[in-house]
Amino acid sequence: MGRLSVNLCGIELDNPVIPASGTFGYGYEFAELYDINILGTFSFKGTTREPRFGNPTPRIAECTAGMLNSVGLQNPGVDRVIDTELPRLAKCFHKPVMANVSGFSLEDYACTCQRLDGEAQIGWLEVNISCPNVHGGGMSFGTDPAQAASVVRAVKAVTTKPVLIKLTPNVTDVAAVAKACEDAGADGISLINTLLGMRIDLKTRKPILANTMGGFSGPAVFPVALRMVWQAAHAVKIPVIGMGGVSSPEDVLEMMMAGASAVEVGAANLVDPFACKRIIEELPGVMDRYGIQELKELSGGKCHG
Ligand code: FUM
Repeated sequence: MGRLSVNLCGIELDNPVIPASGTFGYGYEFAELYDINILGTFSFKGTTREPRFGNPTPRIAECTAGMLNSVGLQNPGVDRVIDTELPRLAKCFHKPVMANVSGFSLEDYACTCQRLDGEAQIGWLEVNISCPNVHGGGMSFGTDPAQAASVVRAVKAVTTKPVLIKLTPNVTDVAAVAKACEDAGADGISLINTLLGMRIDLKTRKPILANTMGGFSGPAVFPVALRMVWQAAHAVKIPVIGMGGVSSPEDVLEMMMAGASAVEVGAANLVDPFACKRIIEELPGVMDRYGIQELKELSGGKCHG
């Protein structure tokens, strides 16, 4: 076990760095660039029961220190993920992978999670109740503690693997949602998903995104994410994955000092496909600078303010 290793819901990771869902495809795309086995794990593209084409374009708008996306959960559907994407991944990634699941009803979430739970390479289910880009599902489950708890119960009833619930920042009391998920039986939580945002094209005087609004991510959201990770981590005992604007080894350490057991990296992968590799390689040097011998000293340490 190295000095970067951490434990996430009973599974040991070589390091806490996890490319976030929606920024790393189904993994094998990045395996063409570097050996992705250096990662702690990664969370694959949000998968739904049926295939989805996603939202109309434009779906991306650039912003200062970040970006908006309104992808709309484009994915090939759970059957194809099991038949095609996972076998392809198994050839180049030899660790447990995190399955990210989205849905539009309790039945959807339960059905997709149950299918993926049977796949040997899947280590954790990350259940996304926070997608801001779809109607009648996604974030609507994550903005109400009772609804969030109902998703947890529906999924836990049909699965055996650790279930992490991915939370939205678009709430006033993230701690209440985190606690509701823990009380309903979640094994962990991850946060934050994107912040609801919008841009207008000055020439057309219309929204840039065809879907009008989208999710804001990138370095600009880091302080907001860190605050919410802190609040959630202090409200629950289950492991927390911190994410939101993480782009450096220093950000990883801050997230862990706020209470995260592991850290997801999202938008940075879209700017630099080698971002996670660089962060992992630079972590030991930055740990030395701050007198941190092992990450386990920090992992979920919940430093007190
Ligand atoms: O629209 C999307 O595919 C993004 C999903 C999410 O932010 O959860």
